[in-house]
Amino acid sequence: MIHVNRYERVWLTFGFLMLAAFLATITVAAVVDGINPPSAGTTIDPTKVADTAPFDKPGLRQTGPKAYEAYYVARVFSYTPAKISVPVGSHVTFYVTSPDVVHGFSIPLTDVNVMVVPGWVSSVAHTFQTPGTYLLLCNEYCGAGHQNMEGQVEVTP
Ligand code: CUA
Repeated sequence: MIHVNRYERVWLTFGFLMLAAFLATITVAAVVDGINPPSAGTTIDPTKVADTAPFDKPGLRQTGPKAYEAYYVARVFSYTPAKISVPVGSHVTFYVTSPDVVHGFSIPLTDVNVMVVPGWVSSVAHTFQTPGTYLLLCNEYCGAGHQNMEGQVEVTP
C-alpha cells in the first residue's frame, strides 16, 4: 500500500468533504428550495419569438405610476428595444428572451444581471433612483460581434 503522509491525508479528506458539502448545497437548493437561474418561469419557442406576444412587439409598457414592464429580444448582436427612457424612481421589470444563442443582460452599477437562454424568458426588476444614462451590456460571449452588443436605459430627472 502506498504511504500517504498524515497531513496530506487530512488535507485530501478536507478537500473531499468540501466537495461533498458544495454538491449537497447546490442539490438541496435546486431540488428542495427550487432555486433556478433567474426566470419568469415561462418558456417560449425560440424559433417563434417574433410571432409570440408580447415579444412580437418588444418595448416599454407603463403598468402604473412609475411602474413599467420592459420586453426585450436579445439577439446577435443587439437588443430590441435598443433604448428605453423612464422617469427617475421608476420600478422596471425586465423580461428578456433570445431567438438564437445565450446572451447576457447586464446593467452595470445596478443589480440587473441575468443570463438570457433561448427557450426561456428571463426576468429581473430594478428601481432606478439616480438619473442618468445606464449602459445595457451583453456579458455572455455570443459570437464575433459580442463586444458591440449594447443598449441604453435613460433615467430622466
Ligand atoms: Cu450577446 Cu454577447
